[in-house]
Amino acid sequence: MHTTVRGFKDILPPDSYKMSFVENVAKEVFERFNYKEIRIPTVEYYDLFIKTTGETTDIVEKEMYKFEDQSKRVLALRPEGTPGVARTYINNKLNLKGENTKYFYIGNMFRAERPQAGRYREFEQIGAECIGVSSPYADAEVIIMLDMILKKIGIRSYSIEINSLGCNECRKKYREILINYLKNLYLCDICKTRLERNPLRVIDCKTDRDKFKDVPSIELCNDCRKHYETLKNVLTQSNISFNENPLLVRGLDYYTRTVFEFKTNLLGSQDAIAAGGRYDDLIKNMGGHYAPSVGWAIGCERIILLMDKENIKLVEKDLCFVVCMDEKYSDYAFGVLSKLRENNIRSDFSDFSSSLKSQLRAANSNNARYAIIIGEDEYNSGFLSFKDLKSSSQKKLGVDEIINLLKNGD
Ligand code: HAM
Repeated sequence: MHTTVRGFKDILPPDSYKMSFVENVAKEVFERFNYKEIRIPTVEYYDLFIKTTGETTDIVEKEMYKFEDQSKRVLALRPEGTPGVARTYINNKLNLKGENTKYFYIGNMFRAERPQAGRYREFEQIGAECIGVSSPYADAEVIIMLDMILKKIGIRSYSIEINSLGCNECRKKYREILINYLKNLYLCDICKTRLERNPLRVIDCKTDRDKFKDVPSIELCNDCRKHYETLKNVLTQSNISFNENPLLVRGLDYYTRTVFEFKTNLLGSQDAIAAGGRYDDLIKNMGGHYAPSVGWAIGCERIILLMDKENIKLVEKDLCFVVCMDEKYSDYAFGVLSKLRENNIRSDFSDFSSSLKSQLRAANSNNARYAIIIGEDEYNSGFLSFKDLKSSSQKKLGVDEIINLLKNGD
């Protein structure tokens, strides 16, 4: 028997519908905010992620799906979307187009993490990137947009954490302070190797987080402080509540200034449902011009788990099942079914040659609300038996009457 690979999963109804629902809600909000869709490849050069996501991050150090193709090129399945969007921005000179460079993408990402509920090796992200805007209003815009998407999905049980990691100058000073503080703590083996190379990564260590509770906070320069204060004021004015978390550093290396996470306490340890931040130097460091940017990504599987926890149900259109009592009238019954569908009525049938009982059982297991039952009488008179399967009431109606009734609601 063939099985799925560990950490990879099939997404079946109703989860597949929930996934489309989440994507559609996000697309509606993206349109409102003038974000345009971008589609980028699943496979990139491995090197791209070393230079962007960061050599000392868990994602690059431990979780990359890295492989050589037939021509010995070293490639990777993308673990996240931001590096690919930045690459395409530079490759396609998108800055020269004169229009706002605000993009969104929906796609599968790959990380060889230890699988558990809410953590998979292939997962879907909906991401947004606002490129080339340094203003804190852009940070506020993306956070407000994310909050609107979650609210429109119906999700309520989350909180927003924010922090500022400052600019290069702020971090240069912070680095020394941090190393001096952290070297006195008992660190895990990986953190010991990261201490000098990238002390911010140490604060992101997932083991024994308690030891970091008194880590000194970053001291922001005037410009970074002003940026952070403006963002907080705008969020407050926009009725977005948030908590400041000075230990929020994020697991990717490109962030500058604002970072944020949308968290829930209903999903155990996989508590981040969406996250992002500002990456002012990324595009310049990749060989592009200076393009300060900010963005985020939502983890779609976690949103679906949260929809279940919050009992958010999708509203489905009522289903009308066409049942044929005698195989002789199958063509007629199929014609009725086609007419329903042409009139935008959600309808279905099962095997017309099977018994009435088994067709009604099929209607039931498909959660049909109505059944149209067709036999000799119905065929001869043109008046079809229309049954409300919820109330069990039944009446005889012409097909156009049924269509009108279903179109206008019962
Ligand atoms: P990230 O925090 O690595 O950020 O991922 C964003 C979201 O993807 C997480 O909050 C989580 O919901 C979901 N996610 C991550 N890993 C998994 C997994 N193994 N299984 C299921 N869901 C997962 C980024 O990827 C950045 N590119 C976000 C960004 C965009 N920053 C700026 N622009």
